[in-house]
Amino acid sequence: MEKVWDSGRRMSRSIGRGMGVETWGVDEAFLQGGGGGGSRRGSRGRADDDEEALRWAAIERLPTYSRMRTSILQAEAAAAAAASPTDGAAEGKQQYKEVDVRKLAVGERQEFIERVFRVAEEDNQRFLRKLRDRIDRVGIELPTVEVRFERLTVQARCHVGSRALPTLLNAARNIAEGALGLLGVRLGRQATLTILKDISGAVRPSRMTLLLGPPSSGKTTLLLALAGKLDPSLARGGEVAYNGFPLDEFVPQKTAAYISQTDVHVGEMTVKETLDFSARCQGVGTKYDLLTELARREKEAGIRPEPEVDLFMKATSMEGVESSLQTDYTLRILGLDICADTIVGDQMQRGISGGQKKRVTTER
Ligand SMILES: Nc1ncnc2c1ncn2[C@@H]1O[C@H](COP(=O)(O)OP(=O)(O)O)[C@@H](O)[C@H]1O
Ligand SMILES: [Mg+2]
Repeated sequence: MEKVWDSGRRMSRSIGRGMGVETWGVDEAFLQGGGGGGSRRGSRGRADDDEEALRWAAIERLPTYSRMRTSILQAEAAAAAAASPTDGAAEGKQQYKEVDVRKLAVGERQEFIERVFRVAEEDNQRFLRKLRDRIDRVGIELPTVEVRFERLTVQARCHVGSRALPTLLNAARNIAEGALGLLGVRLGRQATLTILKDISGAVRPSRMTLLLGPPSSGKTTLLLALAGKLDPSLARGGEVAYNGFPLDEFVPQKTAAYISQTDVHVGEMTVKETLDFSARCQGVGTKYDLLTELARREKEAGIRPEPEVDLFMKATSMEGVESSLQTDYTLRILGLDICADTIVGDQMQRGISGGQKKRVTTER
């Protein structure tokens, strides 16, 4: 199975500066599907709400820079009391504390993920819906990318039959013909192989598109053509456009990633290290800008975000964090937390299983 992951990152129009925005690495299709389940908010007492409101008021007074880095961490009183024995009075109620999202301790991150994503799939869906609602509520429109291709034709010129075999004789003839070719003499008859012929279509935003076809029907070639990564030796015709811009005006690498069907990994690295490394390479895009805009609009409208949503969004928008909440989240959602510290492995070293490796690959 192959996919073009184009909807994870999108071009921005609506967010002031017209830069790319990531939707927290989450396909919009997931965000749109299904309703949100019951909220945990309803069950909380008034005292909790008051305390939370107080913390928010404190955070809102901070200058923007610190405000973007500070959020509220909620902890069960029992856990908090264990951490600081002097605070024993708060038994049985929620505790809130202000935290710097860049400096979350390993235990705090894990506790957060455990609590918010207890049942990975269900809770994830509900959480994503909350993220989406938070963005929608203040009227921020997430930008999308549509890929259109028209009359796409890809042809290869190559030798066929026994002439294509890598024998010594053929290799010698190739060199000779290559030299003659430079002088303008065409001797060898190369066949023209049409891989894609006159195909048109579109990859719509907010959808997951599945491309099916028998082996050797040109699926990989089509995806490579869409990602602008075709072998330069191939002759091509037709046009590929991202949001109406042809490939030479648009940098597809910013919005699309082609993930090959073969896994390329460093076998010695553990799953967690691999994801951490990849998260740092990919950066956070313009999530930070989105967050600043979001916070500004919420402040204007007097909206108080849910602490867990706020913490998550802030913590996954920070650049240069060595091991991030993003990684813990990915591990949890993909069910890779059980092999987080196992090496990925390669032909020489036994590592994680094949299915696990596929999941690591798509997340990289
Ligand atoms: N660079 C190339 N040079 C010559 N032939 C190619 C090249 N790339 C792909 N082909 C041929 O195009 C056909 C379609 O390949 P591919 O897109 O990989 O199919 P699929 O992914 O659907 O299995 C195959 O017959 C393959 O040999
Ligand atoms: Mg293929």
